Amino acid sequence: MTDAVLQPASAPSPAGLPADHPLVDGRTSSAPLVLAARRQPVPVTPVWFMRQAGRSLPEYREVRAGIPMLESCFRTDLVVEITLQPVRRHGVDAAIFFSDIVVPLKAVGVDLDIVPGVGPVVAEPFRTAADVDRLRDLEPDDVAPVLAAATALAGELGGTPLIGFAGAPFTLASYLVEGGPSRDHARTKALMYSEPEVWHALLGRLSRIAGQFLRQQVLAGASAVQLFDSWVGALPSRDYREYVLPHSTAALGAVADLGVPRIHFGVGTGELLADMRDAGADVVGVDFRVPLAEAARRVGDGVALQGNLDPAALFSSPEAVSARVGRVLEDAAGLPGHIFNLGHGVLPDTDPDVITRVVEQVHSATRR
Ligand code: CP3
Repeated sequence: MTDAVLQPASAPSPAGLPADHPLVDGRTSSAPLVLAARRQPVPVTPVWFMRQAGRSLPEYREVRAGIPMLESCFRTDLVVEITLQPVRRHGVDAAIFFSDIVVPLKAVGVDLDIVPGVGPVVAEPFRTAADVDRLRDLEPDDVAPVLAAATALAGELGGTPLIGFAGAPFTLASYLVEGGPSRDHARTKALMYSEPEVWHALLGRLSRIAGQFLRQQVLAGASAVQLFDSWVGALPSRDYREYVLPHSTAALGAVADLGVPRIHFGVGTGELLADMRDAGADVVGVDFRVPLAEAARRVGDGVALQGNLDPAALFSSPEAVSARVGRVLEDAAGLPGHIFNLGHGVLPDTDPDVITRVVEQVHSATRR
């Protein structure tokens, strides 16, 4: 049992990565985020925030003024600047790549847009076998400006790891099938239950696109990846295992040989934590509904955990915020690997100074 704790979850495999990759040349191989993901001893608990790059920052709103979201995702200079903003301001232990889960879909020709205040909207929803054929594989050239930003960022960030990411097949399918954000995912489930062959074909294509996007970001310089299955909490375990797990496993498998830490996260997934663990990531992200100690019991040995302060709690009094951060750290004490994060993304109206103070508290409370 002790062996399992000491054994890195995925040993670095320099063979698959360029010699000047930050994980290979040593810049990020001892970063707290990388160590925690591998369940190795850390000098301090690493902390970063989902949606740390975005509307909570005035400097973000300034550089984004007048530039549509998707356009900004394909502008190398903007991606670099926006990704660095929260690292400079908050001193977080990782940069999350500024992009969106629909970027690779746009890059393979899907007609979609990100509508402010709404989210991704797809012009012609995907519902038939013929629709599946509209999805082709993602080639590096499709996302050249995006990958150029990842390379530039790896150069700028020094010892701070860049986290690349992709949307998981279910969450991507939900946007494609519904045509936009959905509360109940009714059309998505209708396709899944009525036409399982079309469903599996669609998720097969999406897992390739997601896996290719992750792989390209890693080869360009990302030192970790996160697969976001934001909306998969809508499914019961049995359906997750039958209709989703093989495809999420394939997406994560696309970078398995590179030895890069892999994080897998969804919202409202308390009932699915053990199933999501089986998709093969090194770290399971936990939303704010399940205490970390309980989440650890559900996922068992062999993975690290990420989370899980309620993003809404950041609107409380300074004393209350501090108490709730302390509670997350208490729940995580004794876990072999913990990455501090929120249980979902930073809310747009969050006071950025509160975020900075959370980083300071996590660091001062856990410095060893
Ligand atoms: O710091 C970061 O996390 C930056 C990168 C990032 C964005 N989107 C930027 C963004 C990441 C990791 C995402 C992932 C993403 N996009 C997810 C998974 C994470 C999650 O929140 O569960 C999902 C479901 C999407 C789809 C999407 N894109 C939504 C729901 C929205 C919000 C719509 C709105 O306006 O409220 C977007 C737009 C988006 N993606 C914004 C940002 C900064 C806001 C656009 C803006 O600033 O105008």
